[in-house]
Amino acid sequence: MRIEIRDVTKTIKSALILDRVTLTLESGRIYGLQGPNGSGKTMLMRLVAGLIRPTKGEVLIDGRRLGRDMDFPPSLGLLIENPAFLPEYTGKRNLELLAGLQNRIGDGEIRTAMTDAGLDPDDRRKYRKYSLGMKQRLGIAAAVMEKPELLLLDEPTNALDEGGVEEICRLIRRERDRGALVIAACHDRELLEGLADELYTVAEGRVERREA
Ligand SMILES: Nc1ncnc2c1ncn2[C@@H]1O[C@H](COP(=O)(O)OP(=O)(O)O)[C@@H](O)[C@H]1O
Ligand SMILES: [Mg+2]
Repeated sequence: MRIEIRDVTKTIKSALILDRVTLTLESGRIYGLQGPNGSGKTMLMRLVAGLIRPTKGEVLIDGRRLGRDMDFPPSLGLLIENPAFLPEYTGKRNLELLAGLQNRIGDGEIRTAMTDAGLDPDDRRKYRKYSLGMKQRLGIAAAVMEKPELLLLDEPTNALDEGGVEEICRLIRRERDRGALVIAACHDRELLEGLADELYTVAEGRVERREA
């Protein structure tokens, strides 16, 4: 998969949210987006996910234009901000309901995704009893369980302790190694430096390559 972001500007009302962003991204790599709060990392994720449209410029996925030739990227795994799970169901039941939409994976894949994300698939607790870290892990499991070609992870290590961060970084590397194109946004520069194959700095809607 090859994603080309071509000279994309996004304004909302009079605010400049993305400022002439040009980027080419390819499968089998982890792209790190680092920048302070409000710099545009989440908006860039939403752009690539097809959730917002450019004001100017275009996003191409394997040569086809997002928003014209397709509404959303085919084969997308997405973790953005607070994932919406059903509070009265267990983590596993929540994933089963999501997996049921596509019906492409079964119990085995759901269990593996949960275990890889550091959750016990047989945990009987309902989602509303989950800690913040467990909620985060479930969001990551949901993003990876169908082995998407494109994986967008916004602040994937939020609310995780040190061991959890290491575990999720290993999971992200495994996703890259099986061939996924991974974009991970994080305000923690040090963490991203250890994880990303290519590092970009986001500041006031502009995106620049940083040499490692
Ligand atoms: N729904 C929205 N409507 C208008 N402006 C928004 C909206 N969401 C975010 N913004 C603005 O877009 C800019 C980038 O935000 P965001 O991408 O969320 O930053 P980051 O993820 O880097 O913290 C900020 O100035 C923010 O205030
Ligand atoms: Mg954000």
